[in-house]
Amino acid sequence: MSTNPRRKFLIAAAATAGAAGIAGALLWQLRFRDEHAAHVKLPPVRDPEFPNPLRLPGSEGMYGVLDAAGAFAMVAKPVRHALVPGKPAPVLAYEVEQQGRTLLNPVLRVRTGTQLRIKFWNALEETSIIHWHGFKVDSNNDGHPHYAVPGGATYDYQYTVANRAGTYWYHPHPHPLTGKQVYLGLAGLSIVEDDEEIALQTALDLRLGETDVPLVLQDRRFDDSGQLVFAPTADERSQGHLGKDVLVNLTPRPHFQAANRIYRFRVLNGSNARMFRLAFRHGEELLDYYVIGTDGGLLDRPYKVSEAFLAPAERMDVLLDLRRAQPGDSLTLVSLPFDPMHHEAVRPDAGANAEHAQHDAHGAAAPQMPYTPDGAALDLLRIHVRQRIPYAREVPQTLSRVAPPPAATAKPRLITLDQSKGAWRINGLTYDMMATPIVVKRGAAEVWEIRNADRSMPHPMHIHGFQSRVLSREGSPEQQRRLAVADNGLAATDLGWKDTVLSWPGETVRIVTEFSHPYLGDQVYMVHCHNLEHEDGGMMLNLKVAA
Ligand code: C2O
Ligand code: CU
Ligand code: CU
Repeated sequence: MSTNPRRKFLIAAAATAGAAGIAGALLWQLRFRDEHAAHVKLPPVRDPEFPNPLRLPGSEGMYGVLDAAGAFAMVAKPVRHALVPGKPAPVLAYEVEQQGRTLLNPVLRVRTGTQLRIKFWNALEETSIIHWHGFKVDSNNDGHPHYAVPGGATYDYQYTVANRAGTYWYHPHPHPLTGKQVYLGLAGLSIVEDDEEIALQTALDLRLGETDVPLVLQDRRFDDSGQLVFAPTADERSQGHLGKDVLVNLTPRPHFQAANRIYRFRVLNGSNARMFRLAFRHGEELLDYYVIGTDGGLLDRPYKVSEAFLAPAERMDVLLDLRRAQPGDSLTLVSLPFDPMHHEAVRPDAGANAEHAQHDAHGAAAPQMPYTPDGAALDLLRIHVRQRIPYAREVPQTLSRVAPPPAATAKPRLITLDQSKGAWRINGLTYDMMATPIVVKRGAAEVWEIRNADRSMPHPMHIHGFQSRVLSREGSPEQQRRLAVADNGLAATDLGWKDTVLSWPGETVRIVTEFSHPYLGDQVYMVHCHNLEHEDGGMMLNLKVAA
């Protein structure tokens, strides 16, 4: 790395902060290399509760970083991998070979405006297709299940990354196999960068895989041989498939070694169905942290919170300020207990469902239950502060220019979520690959009023191909309402650009989406619940943007 551009930025940044800032920044610059070197030499941590080092994106292997540009091939295939340490077992992964390196589920790091040509080779024994979750692409490149290819076949993607900087992800989307394929391992991150993002990385001295750390949260079940188990019962197909243990970056019971500085965590809830209520606990106390970004990139400024809900497919980009921490301190990323609101089963005829919901609501799992109930308290990641380093950066006051929500140009549209005869529905319908029940005009900005029934479950609703803004939450449960940062009921994690929006039972959430795109002709996308069992069960509709 040439130090020149970096120094130039620091001087420019410091000029506004005054002369003391300049001295501080340059001094820091001189120490930069030592600090980095010290980070590597630490002896391993002994932590019986969290024995496994967190898997970090590196130069190869699982979650290796691929600076994506131009053409490359991604193969979906079975590989042997030890998710449970010492117990290698078959999992599915996307493999990329590049310059002698083999990457699995690579972190695709890409600059806005880059053209990609990706050959997808489906080496599974069933159909599949890749969906680039959150990306603004035309329908040919969106990975709509209509384009799923059989085992042995290929699909060519060619698109320009049009999104602003942010943490996006990719996963399979064949109907109705999405839940199973994601669960068995197929998912990865796309990290988009632009000038604002590089400025933030420079200002805070963030490096991907060291101090800018993706955290992919996924709950899983294993058998005794360390193999993933996916065999949803009828109940689980209706409610969602929950795991027993939560993996972070495919690491069970992980720990992470830190220094007394600011860290960035890009958190993706990559679970099929589990929600998290995320907090950092230090002893009995919850540490404040800053939400700096959501699904579609950076917010205008950091928002200080002590907890946040994260539903499946949502992303939350946060800063954790450990500058005052001491070597020897440790803290834990936790999911606080919450009411999972499985209210669909609270009715006289519910039978087994009601019992399931009772367990969930009270966290009182039967001892032999193969999963941890939704809403249960969970310890996810232990962070050990091990090092004292010089670090003179501050949490920035501003982050990004976020355009205001588009003004509606069409009549509001009602989107209802409910269940009938065990099937989750959108506007009374379940998925039909050939039907396009929602047609919007290209260029229209539509407000959607998403009304989740009282007798329902939380549904994280996702629209392909566009990013939306959340306008308001009404009728929210207390556990959500108390997180509001403005009178429209929005929490910090509802701000900025969103592609997946949580909707609780009894709640009405208004979002606005501008359906503008630069492609020729009609485009067919989809809207669906990102509880993957709900999606695979048909809680999904085609969405046509008519040219
Ligand atoms: Cu991440 Cu259609 O989904
Ligand atoms: Cu998507
Ligand atoms: Cu759902």
